Amino acid sequence: MNRILEYRGLRLEIPENVYFPSDDTYLLIENLIVKSGDRVLEIGTGSGLVALIAAKTAEKVIATDISPIAVKCAEKNIQMNHLSNKVEVREGNLFDPVVEGEKFDLILFNPPYLPEPEKTTSSRKDWLEIAWDGGKNGRNLIDPFIKKCSNFLKQGGLVQLVQSSFSDIPKTCQNFRKCGLQVEIVAKRSFFFEKIVIINARKK
Ligand SMILES: C[S@@+](CC[C@H](N)C(=O)[O-])C[C@H]1O[C@@H](n2cnc3c(N)ncnc32)[C@H](O)[C@@H]1O
Repeated sequence: MNRILEYRGLRLEIPENVYFPSDDTYLLIENLIVKSGDRVLEIGTGSGLVALIAAKTAEKVIATDISPIAVKCAEKNIQMNHLSNKVEVREGNLFDPVVEGEKFDLILFNPPYLPEPEKTTSSRKDWLEIAWDGGKNGRNLIDPFIKKCSNFLKQGGLVQLVQSSFSDIPKTCQNFRKCGLQVEIVAKRSFFFEKIVIINARKK
């Protein structure tokens, strides 16, 4: 059964196997830096909530997800909120759905970042696990994302990445710097054993 989310004038329907917006989603939303005229890429859009909020200011948002169920859910939510003219949803792994030569002012990613022992082939992950499971050290998606993101950023463009203290925040900052991006931690939220942060990384 679909769950209903009402937030800042938007109404979303979210099936049980799509990530339901949580503290990390809201920390990203509260710290979004979207300017009018921006072209925005959101990787791993899930329900589409972040893309919808970004679309209120941006010129165009491309929202992607590897999960076909999330893609369908985001498309429906975008239609229901009358933002289909501004948000396009594409299915695929990380930057694969981006067309050659497409560049963005802003790239957003709330990745699966929780460390989890690797699965054997006999116990394949379901779509909900794929939403939060970051592999052995939590970095299965973070590291390939950092390596490639600069190719899709305009000069002066910005990445906003969500990350947990469980998956080595200093390493993420170091890896962004290795790729020539300027890094700043702009927001933190602490829970019992975990801290989540928003990392801004700008292409100089
Ligand atoms: C933590 S959820 C975030 C969802 C949504 N952006 C939010 O903040 O509520 C991570 C999302 O990334 C998607 N995802 C996982 N692996 C991916 C990959 N390799 N490429 C693109 N998206 C992926 C998941 O399906 C899931 O929707």
